[in-house]
Amino acid sequence: MSGESTVSGKSTVMAIHRSGVVTDAEGTEYPIRPMSILEVEGRALRDFMVQRGYSQSLETGMAYGVSTLWLADAAARVEGGHHIAIDPRQHSGYHSIGMLNVERAGLNNVVDTYVESSELRLPKLVEAKTKLDFAFIDGRHLFDSALIDFFYVDRMLRVGGAVALHDLWMPSLRKVAGFIRQNRNYRLVPVDSVSQLGLPLRAYKVAKRLRTSTLGRDRSGFRARAENLCVLEKVAGDDRHHEHFEPF
Ligand SMILES: C[S@@+](CC[C@H](N)C(=O)[O-])C[C@H]1O[C@@H](n2cnc3c(N)ncnc32)[C@H](O)[C@@H]1O
Repeated sequence: MSGESTVSGKSTVMAIHRSGVVTDAEGTEYPIRPMSILEVEGRALRDFMVQRGYSQSLETGMAYGVSTLWLADAAARVEGGHHIAIDPRQHSGYHSIGMLNVERAGLNNVVDTYVESSELRLPKLVEAKTKLDFAFIDGRHLFDSALIDFFYVDRMLRVGGAVALHDLWMPSLRKVAGFIRQNRNYRLVPVDSVSQLGLPLRAYKVAKRLRTSTLGRDRSGFRARAENLCVLEKVAGDDRHHEHFEPF
């Protein structure tokens, strides 16, 4: 894809982070927080994709398109790079701003958007034999919704690819991370999404997490850490016996 798209994608998302707002087609402004990922998280995801040479990516949960711009910026650096964004509320909840931002960034040729629930769109993508290097799960944050996203993403993800989960401050997302780490052939890949946040903010994040922790065991590895984002690399296919189960 063109380097021009990439430069434009990066400058569009940087301008959004600087101003803290996005605008709809009429020019009405909406704050990007708390809905969108932080700049440090977007940069970590983009850099990880670029370092790995990943070019086929997907996200559940587009919202205002902040994560979309970071991921599509990485995909666009490789010839044939392609990004899929899925969000049922793009028009009804987000004033079509995610799609508008993709257009403003000149990334229309890289991004396909599905205004549909991920649990309905992902199986169709599996059926269409879609192959992925990278997926960002940030759609519906209920445990079962995020697990279903992972289930279908895994079927499209090549070995050596990776999946990222966001909002690990939520017990539901940590449970999904715990399931993947305990039961599937995935390994945690360190990506730096917190070092620029400063110590007080990191301490606040850990405190908030401990407050929302369930009493049960948390095998996610993120119960007392400030990261709100984790990246898990698929190291092998699914070779479990049908009776396999590890508590998570
Ligand atoms: C936290 S926001 C995503 C933020 C976005 N990833 C970013 O950082 O810029 C969660 C999004 O998930 C979407 N969502 C809700 N239910 C969904 C579903 N069933 N499938 C896909 N997305 C869903 C919401 O409409 C919302 O836009």
